[in-house]
Amino acid sequence: MVDLKAQYARIRTEVDAAVARVLASAHFIKGEDCARFEAEFAAYCGVRHAVGVANGTDALTLALRAYGIGPGDEVVTVANTFIATGEAILLNGARPVFVDVDAHTFTLDPQQLERAIGPRTKLILPVHLYGHPADMTAINAIAARHGLPVLEDAAQAHGGEQDGRRVGALGHAACFSFYPGKNLGAYGDAGMVVTDDADFAARVRQVANHGGGQDKYDNVVVGTNSRLDTLQAAILRVKLTRLDTWNAERRERVAAYDRALADVSGVRLPREHGARSAWHLYTLRCDDRDGLQKHLNARGIATAVHYPRPIHLQPAMAAAGGRPGDLPVSEQLSREVLCLPLYPELPLDALQRIADEVRAFCSTRPVAAGA
Ligand SMILES: Cc1ncc(COP(=O)(O)O)c(C=O)c1O
Repeated sequence: MVDLKAQYARIRTEVDAAVARVLASAHFIKGEDCARFEAEFAAYCGVRHAVGVANGTDALTLALRAYGIGPGDEVVTVANTFIATGEAILLNGARPVFVDVDAHTFTLDPQQLERAIGPRTKLILPVHLYGHPADMTAINAIAARHGLPVLEDAAQAHGGEQDGRRVGALGHAACFSFYPGKNLGAYGDAGMVVTDDADFAARVRQVANHGGGQDKYDNVVVGTNSRLDTLQAAILRVKLTRLDTWNAERRERVAAYDRALADVSGVRLPREHGARSAWHLYTLRCDDRDGLQKHLNARGIATAVHYPRPIHLQPAMAAAGGRPGDLPVSEQLSREVLCLPLYPELPLDALQRIADEVRAFCSTRPVAAGA
């Protein structure tokens, strides 16, 4: 699905120099690279503060802690996401309340949001799935009416935009993952919380660093050890300078898929709706998704299903009380979505071959209603 070796080959000299610099300094915890990457990534998002943490799951979990969310509280979110979004809520002892997604953007449907908000609701947590920003204008308007903060799960959307503002600056705060396959990926695990709110950023930093106060051994609240690794920060600093170029190269490949698949019946192609996607994944819909996946895999083409089961139906989320049929759009998407390979270095002839195989599969099948 991605070719991280090809990416490393493009930036090898700079990455190797950055790693060597950290090794020579023997500054493995915190240090200048962490502080600089936080400042550079905050500036990239267009916000004032960033707190580096160990991974995207911790970013969400610790951000929720910093909001003071705990037992008895509810967080409104989506089930059409990676499990970490729900885990972060349950790990804080709160209850996720799942709303369905919009069938076009695959993200939180603002029309369904209002009725999910109740007296226990403390926060709204939309997910910018596949790189496409959720409709933050509508979500923020509803949140403001109810006096609720909005936390973006931006793990898949580095560089996405709505109304000229980048993801990360669209809510009260945002959580990023730098898992290696992300648009901006580390060479290991890493994550970040960004916000314009200085007090909130300080609370995240506190719980991510053993609940510390001014002094290392001044432990004010129960926290944990979730620091951004210094080597990863040094590598991410190099890669951040390439992010816009890489996102543009993703966009070119999306346009190439769109051209190659435009007249293929039996698949529905992803589109942007009221926002600029970071195009983390190119996810099409097919009524015989499993057949298409088998066809492509048999021809040596990697594919992925994000996600085969909406998280309200995962046993791990049983405490939230989700049942089949609760979220019809999310449940239908889980049966139809298929992600094709998409990354900046994807050769255009390889992309054409993938598209040709999608076409070949669809030509053998009856035209699906509505496709
Ligand atoms: C939507 C979403 N949220 C959260 C996460 C968690 O990030 P991490 O894997 O860095 O813990 C991911 C990572 O895949 C994700 O896709």
